[in-house]
Amino acid sequence: MPSTVKNATLLFLGRAVVRAQALLGDPAARLLGLSPTRDPYPVYESVRRQGVLVKTKMGLYLTASHELCARVLRDPGFGPLPAGALSPVDSSVQLDGRRLVNPVEESFLVRNPPDHTRLRRLVAPWFTPRGLRAQTATVERVVEEYLDEVADRRTFDLVGDFAARVPIQVIADLLGVPGADHATFARWGSALVNALDGVRDLRELRALQAALREFEAFLDDLIAHRRRHPGGDDVVSALVAHDDLTREDLIATTELLLVAGFETTVNLIGNSVLAVLGHPEVRERLLADPGYADAVVEETLRHDPPVQYTVRVPFESTEVAGIRLAKGTPVMLMLAAANRDPSVFADPHRFDPGRADVREHLAFSSGIHYCLGAGLARMEGAAALRGLFRRFPDLRAAGPVRRRPSRVIRGAAQLPVTTGAKKQHPIVETIS
Ligand code: HEM
Repeated sequence: MPSTVKNATLLFLGRAVVRAQALLGDPAARLLGLSPTRDPYPVYESVRRQGVLVKTKMGLYLTASHELCARVLRDPGFGPLPAGALSPVDSSVQLDGRRLVNPVEESFLVRNPPDHTRLRRLVAPWFTPRGLRAQTATVERVVEEYLDEVADRRTFDLVGDFAARVPIQVIADLLGVPGADHATFARWGSALVNALDGVRDLRELRALQAALREFEAFLDDLIAHRRRHPGGDDVVSALVAHDDLTREDLIATTELLLVAGFETTVNLIGNSVLAVLGHPEVRERLLADPGYADAVVEETLRHDPPVQYTVRVPFESTEVAGIRLAKGTPVMLMLAAANRDPSVFADPHRFDPGRADVREHLAFSSGIHYCLGAGLARMEGAAALRGLFRRFPDLRAAGPVRRRPSRVIRGAAQLPVTTGAKKQHPIVETIS
């Protein structure tokens, strides 16, 4: 069977199974099939009510427990889901048969030690406190530049015109291509991050393959250039200096920075702005004390995290919460639900930047795959929020929020705002 027809059939069957199971009330199917406008938090609560570890008809186990999520993430007997396990199609194969490197399936995000340790170590220096200090000025400058661009407009799209631009510029800077075309990088990043959800239709598969093909060609050129002109202080220059690194590892590691650092940070900015727009007392405090942005960003990470869940599988048969799990059984760790676990956070559904234990959240995961970019994301989020409300203290929603069509990544795809209105458009959501 030609691969396009085979992929279309597999995608159709996969979606039909998820839909049928969702109608039968299966919580995993409800989550996997959830329309992006639907509020996932009631589903998380229904899982919490069913127990600490809940078996679903789809063969997945789910947990909303903070204690269990943290325990599994830190357990060396568990690792990330193997490549392609939740997607019915092999998205790493290009239509003409040439194999492309898929960062979601091949980077150290989904690798185990010792490979994970070796590859993570190569890029870690950019994310240490010293590495972050070196990026502070870039982040502040990028935020101010993009605010300048929207300053004389009364209405703009907070996501497309601002939030999406900041992380792209920061990542391009890390790769040593500060003049990179923002729109092209954003298109690649969005297509690649959709792969986290598993490819859902042929249109998405084609967009992913096109993005991989283009990004890979761009990186091949960049790598060749860096080999000819060694000694730069960017990530790619450092990676090409390691002769023992395969081309696939080099490309997957570089691509991972865009996949992991782009949409996540966009949505941290978007979700924290939404929180401020929805809480007048938070706005008031932020205007009086711009340093409060750090607390607002941290509570946003807990209350409405950009990455809603991750998956782990045991390397061997094991017992968890009194249940025997066969080797390779996927356990969906619902980070966003763990962040609202009432046994850890008092009044967990309330947005309260003042809570003392806010840093207990699992928005950046835990264990060896703990987000390498956590410090950078916090810095970008706080700089964006500070700059935005300093410049536009009366910022209000100006139209409906369009949610992005993803379940792993939660945030707005479009958030119209106005800088001069006295009254706010009600914060309502529409389908993307
Ligand atoms: C608010 C923004 C961000 C959020 C919520 C976030 C969240 C996460 C989460 C949950 C993981 C672990 C996934 C798992 O355990 O399966 C992760 C891993 C990772 N993140 Fe982030 N991230 C953010 C921003 C960034 C940024 C800005 C960068 C870098 C530019 C970055 C780089 C990475 C990398 C390299 C990994 C893989 C770590 C490993 O496997 O050892 N992230 N991130």
